[in-house]
Amino acid sequence: MTKTTITLKINGATRTVDVEPSDVLIEVLRDKLGIKSPKIGCDRGDCGTCTVLLNGQTVRSCLVLAVEADGGEIVTLEGIGTDGLTPLQKAFIAHNSFQCGFCAPGVTLAATELLRKNAQPTRDEIKEAIAGNLCRCTGYTPIIDAIEDAAKPANKKTKAKK
Ligand code: FES
Ligand code: FES
Repeated sequence: MTKTTITLKINGATRTVDVEPSDVLIEVLRDKLGIKSPKIGCDRGDCGTCTVLLNGQTVRSCLVLAVEADGGEIVTLEGIGTDGLTPLQKAFIAHNSFQCGFCAPGVTLAATELLRKNAQPTRDEIKEAIAGNLCRCTGYTPIIDAIEDAAKPANKKTKAKK
């Protein structure tokens, strides 16, 4: 098969890489670019552990061809909290939100996207936002509690203005 060179902006750095037309994004990120936080779980779009942000939207990178992402901007967990932990990450730690951590990168990106779009999510909106990210360990409660807590400063500010 003919290889194609694609360019991606990953966590702020421009990277070029040769890919086969059939290469999926998760393989390229992990095997060719050394970005290891997105994991391969189900490899068919069910578990969410391969989640990355592509042009600001969460995508399951096991379902995206690398050539489809050409020219795109990707953020993975490695690109979150580079200036210190984000309030969301601190809340995850405070709530002991993760056990094995397999789901953590995907959940963090899904919650980051949610809080960017909706600074005051309801508990149901939080559940909906992370619904595609399977966690086998926690029962989700400490994850949802942390996301709710991370959104609290925005909630408080808005209430104070009223
Ligand atoms: Fe992509 Fe499970 S590995 S959704
Ligand atoms: Fe183990 Fe979520 S902490 S899968």
